[in-house]
Amino acid sequence: MSQRWPIKAKADASILRQALQFPTSKRTAKNRIFKVALTECLSSYDEEHIQNTGLPTQKLNNVYSKWGVGGFGMVFTGNIFVDPKHMEYRGNSVIHPTLNTEERKDAFKKSTEVMKKDGALAIAQLNHAGRLTPINFNEHPFAPSGIKHTPLIKPSVKNAVVLLSGGLRTVYGMADVISNNIADGVGLGKPSMAEPDVAKKLLSNQYQSVVYNHLEDDYQLYVKSCMKQLNEAAATPLEETDGDLTYGITDFSDKEIAEEFKLGSKFPMHLSLNRPKI
Ligand SMILES: Cc1cc2nc3c(=O)[nH]c(=O)nc-3n(C[C@H](O)[C@H](O)[C@H](O)COP(=O)(O)O)c2cc1C
Repeated sequence: MSQRWPIKAKADASILRQALQFPTSKRTAKNRIFKVALTECLSSYDEEHIQNTGLPTQKLNNVYSKWGVGGFGMVFTGNIFVDPKHMEYRGNSVIHPTLNTEERKDAFKKSTEVMKKDGALAIAQLNHAGRLTPINFNEHPFAPSGIKHTPLIKPSVKNAVVLLSGGLRTVYGMADVISNNIADGVGLGKPSMAEPDVAKKLLSNQYQSVVYNHLEDDYQLYVKSCMKQLNEAAATPLEETDGDLTYGITDFSDKEIAEEFKLGSKFPMHLSLNRPKI
């Protein structure tokens, strides 16, 4: 049994189970917990043939299908790049008019279907790496816009639904954010890599918090351990998990396992995000 985040107070998850309608699209998320965007780096990459780059793979669909039945109201994709010359990592998904083949459309369609299998909204996060493009993708990247973000953006977006993520770990904290009108919905990132069905568990009122990770104090190690969990989830199709969505995923709430991982990580950490060497 995994150790869960310590809680200071119990809370009822019913407010998180409420549906959320978006004022413009009129689409409805079935509850208030969403799986935030997490760059998976699980799409295809072929340096020689750009046509074969950025297609969602079976591994990516293995993860998406688990999030798809994991109880979330919405599942966001990781960054999908809109220009193959301005992507961030090998394994990013890519769309672009020059790559618009039936094969690519089918691959994205399949991903979308598995994310929506249990009624979640599937949201694509589009991105352009701009000046942050690694130099071996593009020696002369351009920035997407010279206009700076200003505090004027928010007031000009009317009827906005506000979603909050980052560090939310307990039902109490999540319910508090919504009942105090700080946000309309809450997002989970790293906890959804440890437990693809974390939303289902929290909404059921059976659990009051997400699984603990003993590496949380060291951000690099924490992220690296989560990427390991993501790749473990990707290794097994949903159908082979025998109903346990954490099947094959390392439990970093086990202190010994976390310690062992920490010692192993004293060796080069270049594997962490599969980032091209620059
Ligand atoms: C491995 C990893 C990949 C991420 N990729 C993205 C991304 O593609 N797009 C994005 O907007 N945020 C990305 N984030 C940020 C998360 O969406 C989220 O804001 C962050 O993990 C905080 O939430 P958490 O404390 O629940 O993990 C990423 C975070 C991690 C750890």
